[in-house]
Amino acid sequence: MPAIVIVGAQWGDEGKGKATDLLGSSVDFVVKYNGGNNAGHTVVIGDETYALHLLPSGILTSGVVPIIGNGVVVDLSALFEELDGLDSRGIDTSRLLISANAHVIAPYNRVLDKVTERFLGSRRIGTTGRGIGPTYADKMSRIGVRVQDLFDQKILTQKVEGALDLKNQILAKIYNRRAIDVDEVVAELRSYTDRLQPMVADTGLVLAEALARGRTVLLEAGQATMLDVDHGSYPFVTSSSATSGGACTGSGIPPNRIDRVVAILKAYTTRVGEGPFPTELHDDAGEFLRKTGHEYGTTTGRPRRCGWFDAVIARYATRVNGVTDFVLTKLDVLTGFEQVPVCVAYDVDGVRHHEMPMTQTDFHHAVPVYDEFPGWWEDITRCRRFDDLPQAAQSYVKALEQLSGAPISVIGVGPGRDECVVLRDLV
Ligand code: GDP
Ligand code: IMO
Ligand code: MG
Repeated sequence: MPAIVIVGAQWGDEGKGKATDLLGSSVDFVVKYNGGNNAGHTVVIGDETYALHLLPSGILTSGVVPIIGNGVVVDLSALFEELDGLDSRGIDTSRLLISANAHVIAPYNRVLDKVTERFLGSRRIGTTGRGIGPTYADKMSRIGVRVQDLFDQKILTQKVEGALDLKNQILAKIYNRRAIDVDEVVAELRSYTDRLQPMVADTGLVLAEALARGRTVLLEAGQATMLDVDHGSYPFVTSSSATSGGACTGSGIPPNRIDRVVAILKAYTTRVGEGPFPTELHDDAGEFLRKTGHEYGTTTGRPRRCGWFDAVIARYATRVNGVTDFVLTKLDVLTGFEQVPVCVAYDVDGVRHHEMPMTQTDFHHAVPVYDEFPGWWEDITRCRRFDDLPQAAQSYVKALEQLSGAPISVIGVGPGRDECVVLRDLV
């Protein structure tokens, strides 16, 4: 039975939350497999709007078992704040399971994320300041604190001591900050254990048994292809594996159980934070996209950088993720342009590139080569069948599909759960 992966095809905020929610009623488990509360997913259900960060978007569907996988980094205060917020709105969060192997964002890693960014100045990444990078760095350096460690005070103290031995030197000597007290950190982390304990599980085993029983599992990525630590626009990336490969390592589900890879693709491009962005617009068109698409970060409130659709990135996302279906979102936001440019290739110092340039230097120098498509003026938010869309919008979608290299199965025409055109079922 199927395991389906949902990934972001661009630089995040493509509408993964809405897509996950859309599939919620057809799946049994939704697993978040990477990232942490750096993510921000806005899900609109009827008159209610939910902003999710650390929790999988599937938590909004009753009956689904939401899982925080081993690949996630967990900020415990953010976790309980988010759970309390949903509980107070009548959402049943009692089925949530958290992997015992997930890493915990310790308070010192939040501090280090912020001071490092300040120290970098103009070379900063523009992180969300949630401690994501330092926590994944600890994981790879084998000095991380895992969820299971919280239940053994001796082990936890040893681990925090080991981490702070080095980090306090860095904080005091490089960043001129006060050293952090081991006991304070241990006490803060231990304060969550009673509430946490019933949620902690061997989630890899739970998922293996679920798949064996014929259950459907949806694996939901945070961030996106171009923010992936290996395949993204490094170093302007997040610190986790946001592409479909990360779904296996971040959940414990093996590659041969994955049946479908659904990539969410915005009908234009946005990016939050620093780093190269070939199709970025600094003019009225960019401002129009930001205003009309409400392109302000769900997590940090920062205005998102906006630009035209980039088919080089879409093709790259198809290749890296093995995309079987695209969900094209926010087509409605493009209503009202005379012409809609689409980047079909890059010009890099006089050389035409149809594929992602091999080096970061070339990507920084990439100048988009545009094809122009006729625009449309009709309000498309009530369209529910492909034929309802104006001819120009249909041609735009077909062109993106052809340029991107995988079928567009769903088209988003508004933020609401039902505001979409479904061409092919995803489950
Ligand atoms: P995520 O991080 O990928 O889940 O995306 P975000 O939630 O950060 O950003 C996507 C935003 O676009 C949210 O505010 C959604 O409600 C909204 N959205 C999703 N699909 C559509 C669509 O088809 N049309 C419009 N107008 N808004 C959409
Ligand atoms: P969703 O899941 C957009 C960006 C940050 C920064 C870089 C590194 O909502 O699509 P980090 O705090 O992760 O170390 O920051 O990654 N970033 C996102 N941009 N959407 C996101 O998540 C993001 N999560 C991180 O802005 O440039
Ligand atoms: Mg987002």
